[in-house]
Amino acid sequence: MTKLIALFPGDGIGPEVIAQARRVLDVVCGDRLSYEEGYVGYVAYEAAGHPLPEETLAIARKADAVLFGAIGDPRGDSLSRDLRPEQAILGLRKGLTLFANLRPAKLFPELADASALRPEVASAIDLVIVRETNGDVYFGEKGMRTTANGRREGYDIMSYNEDEVARIARVGFETARARRGKLCSVDKANVLETSQLWRDVVIEVSAEYPDVELSHMYVDNAAMQLVRNPGQFDVIVTGNLFGDILSDQASMCAGSIGMLPSATLDANGKGLYEPIHGSAPDIAGQGKANPLATILSSAMMLRYSLGMAAEADRIEAAVAAALAGGARSPDLGGTHTTVQMGDAVLAAL
Ligand code: IPM
Ligand code: MG
Repeated sequence: MTKLIALFPGDGIGPEVIAQARRVLDVVCGDRLSYEEGYVGYVAYEAAGHPLPEETLAIARKADAVLFGAIGDPRGDSLSRDLRPEQAILGLRKGLTLFANLRPAKLFPELADASALRPEVASAIDLVIVRETNGDVYFGEKGMRTTANGRREGYDIMSYNEDEVARIARVGFETARARRGKLCSVDKANVLETSQLWRDVVIEVSAEYPDVELSHMYVDNAAMQLVRNPGQFDVIVTGNLFGDILSDQASMCAGSIGMLPSATLDANGKGLYEPIHGSAPDIAGQGKANPLATILSSAMMLRYSLGMAAEADRIEAAVAAALAGGARSPDLGGTHTTVQMGDAVLAAL
């Protein structure tokens, strides 16, 4: 049976990295996959007047999985917030109830020298950040107002209800159970009420998972520990904003942000797959982007949404072999172009 992939290249380097993932998928899956392309981000705004046009959302809804490049363009910064490119990814996460964002960070041994950390510290990294992506300050009431004394004030309401916390906590526990059995919940319960509820609910849910070892950490400490001793973490579960920040940080510890894939899942295994890096407008169109995060995202898609684990293994092994063979884009300290990185993966296949 052919599976339908919604293919959304988006802005900046998005089309370049998606093109390489598509070459890899064509070799590994052939006509078992079919594709329908859609506009997202600034290119969608230009083409259809909205960063997430209705047609794009409709393609995503009917597809078995979404493969997403990147969104963001400096020309979008002056638009009203609801028309900015970022609304495309936020709208897809919310519109399809994609609430569980899994961001694995693992150092390929070949890249020990590319990490910002000392190789012996970096080589211990093998963790997954489970980030909630349907709530928090991202989706609360927000706005600009004028105070009584005429000063401008911006505000964004942070909130989580207990069902939202329990739902993502279960994904965290399940993920930990399938790995090394350790879950660290990250919050700011010493200051925020939202975090106090988060912590209380995670503890309540932990009763269902006696086999998982649960710990708690404040987000500032977690940021410090990720750099000091990342090997201590197995699975981190956290809210939308803290997860956004910590996952960029973890990616750099693991070599380069150009390496890390991600999956954002709903409750039924449907998912959106994207590199965690952004659209990098400064290098767009120059062939300098590292496509490996997107290629690895397509492997996650095969594994989590399409039931093709063997094909996913093949792609991941080919990426490792390409790195072992010396393929290095500029973010990894080399001179390989985007296409040459794709060539190296194809050669390894
Ligand atoms: C990410 C990105 C997005 C986010 C932006 C583009 C809205 O930074 O996926 O991490 O903040 O979630
Ligand atoms: Mg981010």
